[in-house]
Amino acid sequence: MRKKIIAGNWKMNKNLEEGLALASEVVNIAKDEAPNDVTIVMCTPAIHLSQVSAMTADSANVFVGAQNMSEHESGAYTGDLAADMITSTGASYVIIGHSERREYHFETNEQLAARVKLALAKGLTPLFCCGESLEVREAGNHVEFVTNQLKESLYDFGAEDLKKVVIAYEPIWAIGTGVTASAEQAQDMHKSIRASLASNYSDAVAAEISILYGGSMKPTNAQELLGQPDVDGGLIGGASLKSRDFIDITKSY
Ligand code: G3H
Repeated sequence: MRKKIIAGNWKMNKNLEEGLALASEVVNIAKDEAPNDVTIVMCTPAIHLSQVSAMTADSANVFVGAQNMSEHESGAYTGDLAADMITSTGASYVIIGHSERREYHFETNEQLAARVKLALAKGLTPLFCCGESLEVREAGNHVEFVTNQLKESLYDFGAEDLKKVVIAYEPIWAIGTGVTASAEQAQDMHKSIRASLASNYSDAVAAEISILYGGSMKPTNAQELLGQPDVDGGLIGGASLKSRDFIDITKSY
């Protein structure tokens, strides 16, 4: 059985006080309402990690993640966040290769491979993001583009390591735009990703890896997206900033 995962990516939102208030609402509402079989992750800015992790310490299904990490263990990399720093806060997940990082910080597939490797070595669960631009989609090259991202960043890992990675498919044209991929478009790509995992590893390995959809997922469209056979969860941006909406998504399977 694949894990159902609803992960919130707060991006660069919420000061310390606002973030702690949001996290506390999420933890409290989740306690009463969130289904036990859904793993909930809050990927907060670095300043919140430690305190939000403390808030979730007693929870069986709410976890905390960082939004990025360095491929270096430590050293003179001003402003970067090391895997050991993330784990020392109590966080257990890390987003790697979000399209905003790829675009604004020029992260490459090779660099992301090194980050996934280090995250795994440190016991963090990588939420590895992939996804195509509108231009690539319109040219009809989206499957090839995404499977190449996976190949260059993930397919050097052995099966046991790969199975620890969570994949998030996020079509760039659907992020923060209000335009969601249709359930059919999401399912088609998730199915292609799973087929690529199967052909590079095995059906059994592919069947175990959770693939999340990200891009304007919200309570009103979550049920349809999460109802697709290869959509195992969501990576939620805007809607994760409202505790009610975020928890409602966890109830949309
Ligand atoms: O990481 C989350 C995604 O970029 C989706 O963001 O839900 O605001 O479109 P969004």
